[in-house]
Amino acid sequence: MLPRAAMTAKIFLKLITAVLFVLVVSLVVVDFMASKIAETSYVDTLSRELASKCRILALADLSPEKFRAFAQAAGGRITLIARDGRVLSDSENDPAKMENHRRRPEVEAALQGQVGTSRRSSPTMPGSQFLYIAIPQESGALRLAVPLRSVDAQVNAIRFQMLGATTLAFLPAILISAFFARYFSARLGAVIEFAHQLAQGNFSARLGGTGSGGTAAGGNEFGVLTARLNDTGEKLQEMFEQLQKEHVELERLERIRKDFVINVSHELRTPLASIQGYAETLLDGALEDPHHNTRFVNIIRQNAERLTRLTADLLTLSRVELKSQRFNFASYYVNGLLDNARDSMKPMADKQSIELRMDYADHNVEVFCDSEAMHQILTNLVDNALKYTATGGTITIGAKRLGENVEVWVGDTGVGIPAEDLPRLFERFYRVDKARSRELGGTGLGLAIVKHLTRSMGGDVRVESVLERGSTFYFTVPMHDLGLSSEEAIQPHLTAS
Ligand SMILES: Nc1ncnc2c1ncn2[C@@H]1O[C@H](COP(=O)(O)OP(=O)(O)O)[C@@H](O)[C@H]1O
Ligand SMILES: [Mg+2]
Repeated sequence: MLPRAAMTAKIFLKLITAVLFVLVVSLVVVDFMASKIAETSYVDTLSRELASKCRILALADLSPEKFRAFAQAAGGRITLIARDGRVLSDSENDPAKMENHRRRPEVEAALQGQVGTSRRSSPTMPGSQFLYIAIPQESGALRLAVPLRSVDAQVNAIRFQMLGATTLAFLPAILISAFFARYFSARLGAVIEFAHQLAQGNFSARLGGTGSGGTAAGGNEFGVLTARLNDTGEKLQEMFEQLQKEHVELERLERIRKDFVINVSHELRTPLASIQGYAETLLDGALEDPHHNTRFVNIIRQNAERLTRLTADLLTLSRVELKSQRFNFASYYVNGLLDNARDSMKPMADKQSIELRMDYADHNVEVFCDSEAMHQILTNLVDNALKYTATGGTITIGAKRLGENVEVWVGDTGVGIPAEDLPRLFERFYRVDKARSRELGGTGLGLAIVKHLTRSMGGDVRVESVLERGSTFYFTVPMHDLGLSSEEAIQPHLTAS
């Protein structure tokens, strides 16, 4: 594409050429009309003048001696013609040598009693035009002829005056046209350049020269066009950005999915390899070895248990994610739900000599949730707390009202979590210490399940932790029905990892 300046110049040239063409055509027409009108009127006047002169001459005594003097005074050539067309006298030529004039149009008219007029070049003086006027006379006709040279000069003078005046009148028109051509070419050039930018994918380009929002600064069509084009550009940009965002999000989800598949395969492979290895060792003879066989079978059982836990957790997670888990929402006293969790976890806490402390909410505080999911969340959190708290520690299960929600927490006096791990803690398979988590029978999916369950019920989860001091996991549950009971109401972004 041409650069904008060159394009603007090209449009300007086209516009100005069109204007000049119209002006030149007008000039030619004016010139033609002016010369026609001037000539006609001038010849008319001259004819009348000559006719008067003829009539005066007709009254005079036209003796041959005075003929030439009369002709000079009349400013032309005088010819006297007899009724039969013979030339009787002529101020310029010898009548004897002149041919019969009966057929000359002006003479013919005069011989019939009218004033005859004719315009033609004289056979005696070829090249120059003459105006002939003949009037009837007793002896025949009296004719006066004058060269039309002066007429031409006069007409030309008028023509030039007209042309001059018209050109002068056109000057402001040309200036105004040039101004508008410049204006239009600049605006049009800008519009074309803008369209080019859009075509190139530069959606952030904007046209200058208007206020935004469809109202043109100048209020003219160009302003409206500019505003519309800018609106279009804006919409294209919005759409483009939206698509880009969606693309980035899709890529992110795809990465997460791939990571997940890799993680799952990896998590399954370790216990399976262990089971296979020990089973083979047993078959290879260890079965008979009383020192080892029970230990090996125990290891096989432990790994099988791990696989069971892993598949159970994966199933739970995918159910929540695919929204195929049907929640049975109802109102519950939150303290009752805390007690359920305590009752389930008490034996394990006792085994580790860890105190389970309760920090109840006001007795009538209710939550609107699925009790099973709530139980799963709480037991997961308490299970983690038990895993990462040393003997003699304390775990607190508490709840309190927080606006329209109830905040529930599980705190411990355990090892704590390094600050850099906190942001990723709720990701699937994310563990601060993989080996330790495995050793403790963890799958790395517990917190991911907690996050999905709380979000699916209209709440959220967060964690606060100080290394060596302990961690507290907080999650919220709505007090009232938020309309999440139907599957469709669960927003995908709430459950996407
Ligand atoms: N109460 C806690 N104290 C310290 N670390 C914790 C606690 N709860 C969770 N974590 C850390 O978060 C990780 C993820 O927890 P989770 O998803 O439940 O997996 P898992 O318990 O199977 O290891 C754990 O491996 C652990 O590193
Ligand atoms: Mg866990």
